[in-house]
Amino acid sequence: MLGSNGLAQSIEEGAYLTAAAGCKACHTQPKGAGQEYAGGRALDTPFGTFYTPNITFDPDTGIGRWSDADFVKALKKGISPEGFHYFPAFPYTSYTNMTDRDARSIYAYLKSLPPVQAPNKPHDIGAPFSWRWLQWGWKILFFKEGGSSVPVIQSSADRGNYLVNALGHCGECHTPRNALGGIDRDLYLAGSASGGEGELVPNITPDKETGIGDWSKLDMVSFLETGMKPNFDDVQGTMEDVITHGTSKLTKEDRTAIADFLFSVAPVKNKVKK
Ligand code: HEC
Ligand code: HEC
Repeated sequence: MLGSNGLAQSIEEGAYLTAAAGCKACHTQPKGAGQEYAGGRALDTPFGTFYTPNITFDPDTGIGRWSDADFVKALKKGISPEGFHYFPAFPYTSYTNMTDRDARSIYAYLKSLPPVQAPNKPHDIGAPFSWRWLQWGWKILFFKEGGSSVPVIQSSADRGNYLVNALGHCGECHTPRNALGGIDRDLYLAGSASGGEGELVPNITPDKETGIGDWSKLDMVSFLETGMKPNFDDVQGTMEDVITHGTSKLTKEDRTAIADFLFSVAPVKNKVKK
């Protein structure tokens, strides 16, 4: 059992991890239309429009009746308390690499926020993608469940790996998908013509011509804080949310860790075009 100080600490850690994992951007309607974490945000994907659910602790319309074990199972296995499979528009495919301890801290943080009554909206997706039971087959093809062991973190790049792949789910947008929505591992982080919400998402492997090979590490650390690119362009689209709610809230060490990891990835030549 956690003592009260343990709980306060895990809420504080949870707030940080929730920012790093970008939960708010997806689970809140843009521009103040809804309450924080009450869901209802439309995600336009090539497979249809998903509406994010309410993840406040309202007992009737949110997740107020969930145990922390239910929560860890949703985040790391993509399975609901009733046993149905989530669509991978919810990036449990990345969160599966999170430690159970971090998932529980996120739970403690969300539980500490005010519950909001806001019923969920059904998704607007066509068959066969709308068939929930098919997600089971999809998982066999494309989902690799993370372990329950705690990753060994020996260097800043190791920490960056965890921030990029377990929390920040950068690859969910920056890696292209096949026709069934599975991640194309050969083009890991090499950009996508219709990533995120159908946008063009650039190659962030350190390839000199088509990626970020001509950025310095400092360029990257400052981009992840301010959204300004080395050519003085401001960041656009969903990446702006990633920076505003996510990477700008991290410590400088963690932003540096992300940069260290990105420059350690094998460069992939891939020119992303619409
Ligand atoms: C890219 C957008 C996106 C991000 C980022 C995201 N989610 Fe979600 N989440 C979704 C979608 C879409 C669903 C609904 C999936 C479905 O219906 O199968 C969902 C479902 C859920 C559910 C299940 C709720 C229920 O009522 O069954 C929980 C819990 C949840 N998310 C928590 C989180 C947490 C915690 C984070 C951050 C660690 C997070 N989500 C980040 C899109 C997102
Ligand atoms: C929701 C989708 C999404 C996620 C998640 C995401 N990105 Fe992005 N990213 C984008 C888009 C879209 C752009 C293009 C923005 C622009 O052109 O201004 C972008 C641009 C970038 C750029 C600028 C590259 C260039 O050449 O201009 C970098 C660097 C970057 N992202 C790093 C990251 C990192 C690191 C993460 C994880 C912490 C991440 N992104 C997560 C969608 C995403």
